[in-house]
Amino acid sequence: MSSPAKSMKRPIHQPAAALPHAEASPGPVLVQTLADLRRCASTCKACDLWKAATQTVFGEGPARARVMFVGEQPGDQEDKSGHPFVGPAGRLLDEALVEAGIDRSEVYVTNIVKHFKWVAAQRGKRRIHKKPRQSEIDACRPWLDSELKVVKPQVLVCLGATAAQALLGKTFRVSLDGGAIISSALAPHVMATAHPASILRAPDPETRQKQRDNFVRDLRKVATLLASGDPPPPL
Ligand code: URA
Repeated sequence: MSSPAKSMKRPIHQPAAALPHAEASPGPVLVQTLADLRRCASTCKACDLWKAATQTVFGEGPARARVMFVGEQPGDQEDKSGHPFVGPAGRLLDEALVEAGIDRSEVYVTNIVKHFKWVAAQRGKRRIHKKPRQSEIDACRPWLDSELKVVKPQVLVCLGATAAQALLGKTFRVSLDGGAIISSALAPHVMATAHPASILRAPDPETRQKQRDNFVRDLRKVATLLASGDPPPPL
C-alpha cells in the first residue's frame, strides 16, 4: 500500500457546481486531492445540518486505500474531534478490523452524511443522534461520489442500513443481504454489513456477541478479498 502523501496526487476534474459547498464558484475548479475536497467540504452549507454541528467530518485514510467503509453520519465525539469513527462505534470497528486482520491505517473511513444531526436530550446535556433525512443524504452525496472518484476502492463496505440504502437502493435490507459480495458501478466489490453502533445497542450481551461475531465474519470476507491481491488502480 502506498503512503498517503504519495497517493494524494491523482487529479480529478470536478465542476464546482457539482460540489455542494457554500459559495457559488465562477467556474470549474480542479479538485485534485482529498485535501482539496476536505477543504471545500469544510464550508458546506448544502443542507441545514451545518448549523447545529461543530464542523464537517470528512473521510479519512490513504487516498489509495483498497477498501472504503461508509457509515451514516458522525456522532457526538466525531463532531467534536472532526474525525470519523473515533467514538464508541469507532472503537468497536477498530477491534473488529484487528480481529479480521485488516489494518485500519490502510482503510478509508467516511460517512454518507458529513455533519452530525442531533437533538438535545430531554434532561441533561447529551446530544442524541437523529437519523438524516433523504434530502440531507442527497445534499451530501456529491462528497461521497468525489471520495469514490479519488480513492477508487476495490472494496466498498456499507456500515448499516442508511449507507446501504443510500448506495444500493431503498429496498436493500442489511438483515437479508448483509455479508453478500455485490458487484456494482461504485466499486468492483461492494458489501453491506451491520453498523457498529447498532451492535452496541443490542438488547442483551448474548445478542451483542452474536452480532459482533457476524460483523467480524463479514470483515474477514473483506480481508479475503483484499488478500486475493487485486492490483491497486493505476494513478
Ligand atoms: N457512526 C457513524 O456512522 N459514523 C461515525 O463516524 C461515527 C459513528
